Amino acid sequence: MGARSMVPAAVTLFLFLSFVGLCNGGITGNYVRQVGPTADMPKEAFPPPPGFNTPEQVHITQGDHGGRGVIVSWVTPAMRHPNVVTYWAEGAKLKDKQKAHSKIYSYRYFTYSSGYIHHATIEALEYDTKYFYELGRGNGTRRFSFTTPPKVGPDVPYTFGIMGDLGQTSASIQTLEHYMANPKGQTVLFAGDLSYADDHPYHDNERWDTWGRFVEKSAAYQPWIWTAGNHELDFAPELEEYTPFKPYLNRYHVPYRASQSTSPLWYSIKRASAHIIVLSSYSAYGKYTPQYTWLKQELPKVNRAETPWLIVLVHSPWYNSYNYHYMEGETMRVMFESWFVQSKVDIVFAGHVHAYERSERISNIKFNITNGQSAPVKDPSAPVYITIGDGGNIEGLATSYTEPQPSYSAYREASFGHAILEIKNRTHAHYTWHRNQDNTPVAADSLWLYNRYYYPVEEPSPWE
Ligand SMILES: [Fe+2]
Repeated sequence: MGARSMVPAAVTLFLFLSFVGLCNGGITGNYVRQVGPTADMPKEAFPPPPGFNTPEQVHITQGDHGGRGVIVSWVTPAMRHPNVVTYWAEGAKLKDKQKAHSKIYSYRYFTYSSGYIHHATIEALEYDTKYFYELGRGNGTRRFSFTTPPKVGPDVPYTFGIMGDLGQTSASIQTLEHYMANPKGQTVLFAGDLSYADDHPYHDNERWDTWGRFVEKSAAYQPWIWTAGNHELDFAPELEEYTPFKPYLNRYHVPYRASQSTSPLWYSIKRASAHIIVLSSYSAYGKYTPQYTWLKQELPKVNRAETPWLIVLVHSPWYNSYNYHYMEGETMRVMFESWFVQSKVDIVFAGHVHAYERSERISNIKFNITNGQSAPVKDPSAPVYITIGDGGNIEGLATSYTEPQPSYSAYREASFGHAILEIKNRTHAHYTWHRNQDNTPVAADSLWLYNRYYYPVEEPSPWE
């Protein structure tokens, strides 16, 4: 190439790099999409199943600490009974069918009265086995299935789907169907903000019912690991509703006691090769509080020889460069970030901001009031922070960023989507983010993640 053609080439390269945002250290996706809020689907879009008192809003989550338990939850609209789930392993004989009974809950919210909400815990299942289960009776009988995870172990491959801030709009439907079109996902890590019922007049709790029907097509067949977001609070003194998380805690049960937690809002599970910690952005976490005390005791219990991958779910992100909910996660970051670095947390998934963002491995734990060291720095022991609040809810996308893109932000884009985390072994996991508008196998952002405990070297950027 001659000297005369070098100059335009250099200019073109500079313009390209400016365009994709590399000059600021990170990338802002330039995908052009429709913006503005999408209305919730009409309630009729999520009808109850036919038949009298037919079980609906069926969902499952892990029911113990190690993966041999399942909590099966459902609603019977008219009568309390039957309150039993019948289950059997694939290929089992008729006589080998087993039963578990539910505990039944119901609640009132302003003028709304819930149906009968059932939670049945099934324990001591075989690992890595397909089970069928049946609910209801007569013409209201419904059958579902799930597969238990493999026994916990350091090199057990396992694939998680990640969604957050889902809601119940046409975009929410697109996100869920896009996730389900990918056969890889075995369990959903949900980063909080489920139904957005509270965006309707009087927190219309029928929207909790429609949401339960909406997600059933996935949540009845694979566990969703729940995190509470701000839209789960339903704290409304103007409606004389003073109990935070009332609809959420009645409807979504988690195995918190199995991890010695005293609240369903924070807990842990082990699944395949991952230890997953769920935290609550909207419960006290200052020193001496129950959540603080629990997390302090929990982190040293993580056994990386058994579960190499340490993953945290929390609703409000600690690193976020959008002009939405900016720094709302800051006080929790200040409390817990040094613990995460010490414990070599691999990934933190958050929601809340209705967009996508992935951070570099950075920490900001040196500041002590007088030393002025208050900027994030590269840190090989730090987690990657991923904001995945782009499920597609009624409030619309977060489309405004802080400029320039901070150096801690590796990739950000205001599009709806979901993510997939494929754990391969103790050292490697393949992570992909899938924009709703793309075909199923297309990844809009992807990265080979290296385990912080077994292979703490820097991951090459997929964008360089
Ligand atoms: Fe939120």
